Amino acid sequence: MSLISEIKRRRTFGIISHPDAGKTTLTEKLLLFGGAIQEAGAVKSNKIKKGATSDFMEIERQRGISVATSVLAFEYQGIKINILDTPGHKDFAEDTFRTLTAVDSVIVVIDVAKGVEEQTVKLVEVCRMRKIPMIVFINKLDREGKDAFELLDEIEQKLNLTVTPMSFPIGMGYDFKGIYNIWEKNINLFSGDSRKNIEETINIEDLNSPDLNDLITKSAADTLREDVELVTEVYPKFNQEDYLNSNLQPVFFGSALNSFGVRELLDCFVEIAPTPRPKESDTRLVLPDENEFSGFVFKIHANMDPKHRDRLAFIKIVSGIFNRNTPYLHVRNNKKMKFSSPNAFFAEKKQIVDTSYPGDIVGLHDTGNFKIGDTLTQGELMQYRGIPSFSPEHFKYINNADPLKSKQLSKGISQLMDEGVAQLFILELNGRKVIGTVGALQFEVIQYRLEHEYGAKCVYENLNVHKACWVDVEKSDKNELAEFKRVKSRFLAKDKRNQLVFFADSSFTLQMTQSKYPKVILHYISEFE
Ligand code: G4P
Repeated sequence: MSLISEIKRRRTFGIISHPDAGKTTLTEKLLLFGGAIQEAGAVKSNKIKKGATSDFMEIERQRGISVATSVLAFEYQGIKINILDTPGHKDFAEDTFRTLTAVDSVIVVIDVAKGVEEQTVKLVEVCRMRKIPMIVFINKLDREGKDAFELLDEIEQKLNLTVTPMSFPIGMGYDFKGIYNIWEKNINLFSGDSRKNIEETINIEDLNSPDLNDLITKSAADTLREDVELVTEVYPKFNQEDYLNSNLQPVFFGSALNSFGVRELLDCFVEIAPTPRPKESDTRLVLPDENEFSGFVFKIHANMDPKHRDRLAFIKIVSGIFNRNTPYLHVRNNKKMKFSSPNAFFAEKKQIVDTSYPGDIVGLHDTGNFKIGDTLTQGELMQYRGIPSFSPEHFKYINNADPLKSKQLSKGISQLMDEGVAQLFILELNGRKVIGTVGALQFEVIQYRLEHEYGAKCVYENLNVHKACWVDVEKSDKNELAEFKRVKSRFLAKDKRNQLVFFADSSFTLQMTQSKYPKVILHYISEFE
């Protein structure tokens, strides 16, 4: 098959949701429809379960599972679908943000009873900013929940989206009768027996037909007629271009647990979802159908087996064809590298592949050369943009607790940072190391992994930082910057890319600093024009 036809048949996406909305269940059902797994329960949940073990041990368990679920690929109607896993736990938000740089679209899962929750708001905001096309799936219709119109309103208000329902529920919870598919003009009747997994699809060209009364009772049919009339009056009609530009979000209703409404979602998804999209680099926009291969690292998994210090770097292919045993340029190191055993991911299995295409993810074995955000090309000197660091929420000094193991500690810290577990800052004044994390749990993870994987011991010391701000040295006024650096020297540090960072100890300090030095430009993310 030609490069273009391979690109056309690929859909790479992520499912995002607040924990417990049903992401794992939906993923599993999509795999079942794709024939990639034979039974439910095969996809292990990557969520952090509270209870039996302490939280950070649970993270270790999850790390094992998440290699297997990082990419779940399957074929459906001749389309190659790659689902990228996104952790729902908020302490891993940065992992999810990074994965979102590698998806071409997303499905947002919302619990019909809980509505829009905190994590959903954050993740959807990132997708909106990046103009990622989104489809919304409202889940758990077999349970009592919010009124459909109320929920659509909530989605528009809280998530700042413009929705267009593609299906509409008939009843809900105890009275849930099924779903009218506006897109396909048919009705699926809900049997409530998930073992059957077979839906009865009845074509309804005309909602006013008396047959509908017999099918779902007259009162349910009347309500449906009114609801659908309101939908057509109130919501914009589906338009693929608006969806692809992230200006319109189609909404589906269903119950993942009962495999209900999932086929409709998948059928529509393969029809409308984008094929691999172009990506901006520091020099130009790169198109997927260019002949030369290029890709970037969005995730690294390290030390799954402590006996072998190997890591798996996950590359999203942006353009051209990736071939096994072919030298490619690692742009940051300006070094050619060959990969003899690149892995592709099929459902839960890894497999060595000879060729991969744009939209695909390959896992490359790595001995410590890669960092998140690195670019591989066929020789062109360019770096992909769009994997910025955000300001961490928690900061601590990290100190060596075993003087004989200082080398191991440095190596461990450096490798864990490459993996993106946390961010390391070096204070300008005294060279002390500061670790910044999104969640408090990561400090325990780092301590545990340093000890178990590197034989090093660390202790933390509190440091009061409210936000890390990246200083735009280029665009700031030179005189004002010099004064700012002199006065604030105790609060300045360098990040992993040697960029200057200002630590503000409170939002008040931040405000004061900004009003005192208005020509010193501060950013909350590490990547700016
Ligand atoms: P997550 O990955 O988004 O965190 O959610 P997950 O799929 O694990 O689902 C969270 C809980 O919601 C699970 O129940 C799951 O069975 C349930 N669930 C998912 N879809 C539906 C649905 O359509 N209807 C109903 N009624 N429940 C649904 P659990 O009891 O927490 O876990 P489990 O022990 O059943 O796995």
